Amino acid sequence: MTSEEQKQAENRARPTTDEFRAFVAEDWAPRRPSATEPSPAAPYAAQRRAAVSKAFAGDRLVIPAGGLKVRSNDTDYVFRPHSAFAHLTGLGGDREPDAVLMLEPRDEEHGGGHEAILFFRPLAGRDSDEFFADTRYGEFWVGARPTIEDLETELGLTARHIDEFADAAVKDSGEITVRLVRDADRDLTRQLDAARTSESAEGTEADQASTLAEADDALAAFLSHLRMVKDEWEVEEMRKAVAATHVGFEAVIADLPEAVAKGRGERWVEGVFGLHARHQGNGIGYDSICAAGDHATTLHWIKNTGDLREGDLILLDAGVEMDSLFTADITRTLPASGTFTDAQREIYDAVYAAQEAGLAAVKPGNKFSDVHAAAIRVIAEHLHRWGLLPEGVDVEGTLDKEHGQYHRRWMVHGTSHHLGIDVHDCALATRAQYMDAELRPGMVLTVEPGLYFKADDLKAPERFRGIGVRIEDDVLVTEDGCENLSAAMPRTSTDVEAWIAGIWGR
Ligand code: GLY
Ligand code: MN
Ligand code: MN
Repeated sequence: MTSEEQKQAENRARPTTDEFRAFVAEDWAPRRPSATEPSPAAPYAAQRRAAVSKAFAGDRLVIPAGGLKVRSNDTDYVFRPHSAFAHLTGLGGDREPDAVLMLEPRDEEHGGGHEAILFFRPLAGRDSDEFFADTRYGEFWVGARPTIEDLETELGLTARHIDEFADAAVKDSGEITVRLVRDADRDLTRQLDAARTSESAEGTEADQASTLAEADDALAAFLSHLRMVKDEWEVEEMRKAVAATHVGFEAVIADLPEAVAKGRGERWVEGVFGLHARHQGNGIGYDSICAAGDHATTLHWIKNTGDLREGDLILLDAGVEMDSLFTADITRTLPASGTFTDAQREIYDAVYAAQEAGLAAVKPGNKFSDVHAAAIRVIAEHLHRWGLLPEGVDVEGTLDKEHGQYHRRWMVHGTSHHLGIDVHDCALATRAQYMDAELRPGMVLTVEPGLYFKADDLKAPERFRGIGVRIEDDVLVTEDGCENLSAAMPRTSTDVEAWIAGIWGR
C-alpha cells in the first residue's frame, strides 16, 4: 500500500471492535450446499491443456488471470481475465481476479504430463475480517466467491488457495524450467523473475533475464497460436456472439430516427448497442465504433461524440462478447435516412464488391493473405476507374509492394484478422503461422474491406468527401470454403435499405 493509499484507508476506516467482530460472525444459516455444475467448457479446456502439456513436457507453466485494475481512487475496472487463462480454464466473465493456473509436470510414476492446479482466492469464512471489511473481495461487498470444491467441480482440475502459489511456483527452482505468461500480471511477473534469477546461476543478470524472456515468449506464442483453429464449442460460442450482435444492430436501426433527433447521435447508438451487448452477453467485445459522416474516415473513432444527421451514413463497428469472452466483430454502414445517396451507394457498392472477392478467397488451401489480396485488388480497380491513382499508375502498379501502394491512402488497414476470445485473436502467432499460413477448417476470421474519403482530401472527388464505408463479416473456414456466420445481416446496398425499411415498418 502506498502512503497515499494508507492515508485514504485511515481517513475512511471505521472502528471495528471485538464485540462487533463476534456479532457479525454469528447467526448465519449454514451455507447452502454448493449447486455448482461441471462447466460445458471444461472438457475442451482440458484438451487444450493437454496440447500445451505435450509441447512443454517437463516444464512448469504459469498462466495468471491478472488482477483488478484501479480505474480511479478506490474503484476498479470490471475484471476480465487474461485470454490465455480463459482459454485454458474455461473461465470467462469476470473470473477470477488474482487466480493463477499452473501446469505442474508430473513424473511418469504419476501418469506423466502435467497436473492442472488453479490457485485462487476462495470464499472466506464468516469469522474473517474479509467477510465484512474487504471492499475488493469480501462477501458483504462483492458477493460470495466460489469455494475450492466449487471450482474443482466446475472445472475438473485441482484447486488450491492462492496463498500456496508462491511456494509452489519456486519449488525446485534451478532444476526445472519455469515459464510464465508475462503480460497478465505485472507484480507476479516481477516476483517470479526475481525468484527465477539468482546470483549463483550462470550468466549475468541481463543474460538470465533474456533467457527467461525467450522461454516465456515461446509459451505465449504457443498459447496464442493454439487458439487459431476453433473447436466445436468455440464455434458455437462464435455463433451465439454473432446472433447477439445481430440483435444489437437491429435495435440500433430501430432507433436511428431517435439518434438523429436527439443530438449526439453517435453516443445514442453506442448506448443502444451497449445495452443489448450487456443484456445478451457479457458486454461489448471492444469499444464500439459509432462513426457518422466524416468520422467514419477515422478508423478507430471510439469517441462517439458526434451528431448523426439525416443525410449521413453511420458506420457501426461493434460486437457482443459472450460470457465465454468469445466476441463477434461486425460492421455495417447504414444510411440514417434509410436510403443511400448516389455517391454513398457508389462507394458502398465498391466496398461490397471487394468484400465478395475477399469472401470468395476464404477456403482451405488458400493462404490467409490471399483474402486481403483478393479484396484489395477490387478496391484498387475502383480507385483506378475513378481516376484517383497517380498519372501512369494502373492496378498492377499500385498493387506492386515495392513501388506503389497508392490505394492505401483510402484503405490503409488489412482486410482480415483472426477472431475469438480476443477481437484480434492469435496476435502472437508468427508470420508463417498467420499471414503466410494456409487457411484450415475451424478458423474464424473477419473480412472487412473499406473505403474512406476524408472531408479534407483534395485528391478525392468532391462528391466522395466525408464518406467512409466498411462492411465486416465473421466467417468460419469450412472443408470446402467458408460459412459467413453473419450472413443473416443484410449486406448489399439494396438489402440494407430493405432491412432498415422493414425494421421501421415502412
Ligand atoms: N473492430 C476492430 C476491427 O474491426 O478490427
Ligand atoms: Mn470491426
Ligand atoms: Mn475486425
